[in-house]
Amino acid sequence: MRRKLVAGNWKMHGALARNQALLSVVAGRMAQMPGVDCAVCVPFPYLAQTQHLLRDSAVQWGAQDVHQQAEGAYTGEVAASMLCDFGCRYVLVGHSERRSLYGESSQLVAEKFAAAQKAGLLPILCIGETLSQRESGATEVVVAEQLDAVIKLLGARSLRDAVLAYEPVWAIGTGKTASPAQAQAVHAFIRQRVAGLDADVAQGLRILYGGSVKAANAAELFAVPDIDGGLIGGASLVADEFLAICNAGQN
Ligand code: 13P
Repeated sequence: MRRKLVAGNWKMHGALARNQALLSVVAGRMAQMPGVDCAVCVPFPYLAQTQHLLRDSAVQWGAQDVHQQAEGAYTGEVAASMLCDFGCRYVLVGHSERRSLYGESSQLVAEKFAAAQKAGLLPILCIGETLSQRESGATEVVVAEQLDAVIKLLGARSLRDAVLAYEPVWAIGTGKTASPAQAQAVHAFIRQRVAGLDADVAQGLRILYGGSVKAANAAELFAVPDIDGGLIGGASLVADEFLAICNAGQN
């Protein structure tokens, strides 16, 4: 049985005092939830604070983006080795906000995935379709293209040391969640596609669902066979909400 992972994506939210309050509560309560993995992906400037507060806790942490090169003259960018310096275990790559607002292509996302793995991080590869793509029946084509870019660059075995997150763009921050059946259909499609290349990797692969996950809908989403946890935006900023979602993910 795959162990579930609930990861918070704080996006561009946070402040020292607020982070301290949130992380102390989450770290304290996660000590009583041995049946689920929990992580927070925080903005770069808060990695040191997060490392300090979570170092001896059951909660892991990560970043929300990484540069594809190991180092160099890339003003404003952050390398994977720097994330390792601050104890990150995870890094998001290809979040739909990066793809749509910053023009990140699937090829670039695959290169970021590679850079993260090379440094020893576990990339959380985010994939998902827009509303118009879903309405035109292109969901599987879009998700496959986003996934295949990584498989083409690094092979299916690279997914052994990674996590996938299916986040339908129309469900992000909108309050519109995919129904458990809608999400399950895409998650099963993703797993079957990987299984066609490597059955063992597919069996062990954690595929998170993201998009308006809340305490009120987490349990029904986590109950379907191919959802292995959640990637949580807004609700990860509220300790009680986030912890209730983590609790719903306990095996
Ligand atoms: P919301 O949970 O706020 O819809 O955001 C989802 C998301 O984008 C997580 O990466």
